[in-house]
Amino acid sequence: MTATAASGATTTVSNLSTRGLTKVFGGVRAVDGADVTFHEGKINALIGPNGSGKTTFFNCVTGMIKPDSGTVTFKDRDITGKAPHAIAHAGIGRSFQLCRIFPRMSVLDNVLVAVRRTGIRSLLAPARTEAEVTKARQLLVRVGIDHLENAEARDLSYGQQKLLELAGVLMGDPDTIMLDEPAGGVNPSLIGRIGSLVQELNAEGTTFLIVEHNMDLVMSLSHHVIVFDRGRPIAEGTPDIVQSDPRVLEAYLGV
Ligand SMILES: Nc1ncnc2c1ncn2[C@@H]1O[C@H](COP(=O)(O)OP(=O)(O)OP(=O)(O)O)[C@@H](O)[C@H]1O
Ligand SMILES: [Mg+2]
Repeated sequence: MTATAASGATTTVSNLSTRGLTKVFGGVRAVDGADVTFHEGKINALIGPNGSGKTTFFNCVTGMIKPDSGTVTFKDRDITGKAPHAIAHAGIGRSFQLCRIFPRMSVLDNVLVAVRRTGIRSLLAPARTEAEVTKARQLLVRVGIDHLENAEARDLSYGQQKLLELAGVLMGDPDTIMLDEPAGGVNPSLIGRIGSLVQELNAEGTTFLIVEHNMDLVMSLSHHVIVFDRGRPIAEGTPDIVQSDPRVLEAYLGV
């Protein structure tokens, strides 16, 4: 969110930021001192060439891997190195670059199991409550695959699997959602569906952080674009500004 101060200067309202975030694999500085400030209530995109550290950055923020140094702050709390379920519980939901679903489980069960994977309910709790089932069904309607409720997840198209994963993320009622390549490998009609869903959820107040290579989608959806190169941001701004930044053209578009 951008607020206009009395002086006329604009300030960024952020719920999620990193300072000096670093993750080294062997000799590779996958994330290298990244200072990133996401805009709260907006659709933020994180773009950059293959191997520039976007997924590793996501993994550090969501607790999937522990950064070597630096901090992650969410809603004024230091969440650096916390367990994934604790971070999910704090309000950050995420999807994965390679869709993570249970292929032989039904579509409905996949959404229900997502509640447990995010640690919102204990694994020892009763298998499901009526309220959970109702909510899962509503989310399947929302993402547009309720007609496939009883199908095995493996029988869905890849785009439908991405929508299923998103329904699972929504079970946790996150206020911030991180999507790693939501359009990757997805056919164009479902890319449109995913884009509209992101816009609808954002209009309801959800902050988005989206890693995506599909530039048409990024430029049409995003309010704020952050460009990664070699593990850190090299430019950021509105889609228009970023697209004309020579550093971005050089690093990302290779021109
Ligand atoms: N678990 C790992 N072990 C060793 N090296 C890794 C590991 N994960 C990532 N890397 C390396 O870290 C660098 C950043 O990779 P990362 O997957 O974060 O990039 P990315 O920006 O998400 O790329 P892409 O756009 O292709 O998904 C790459 O050089 C990659 O080979
Ligand atoms: Mg990646």
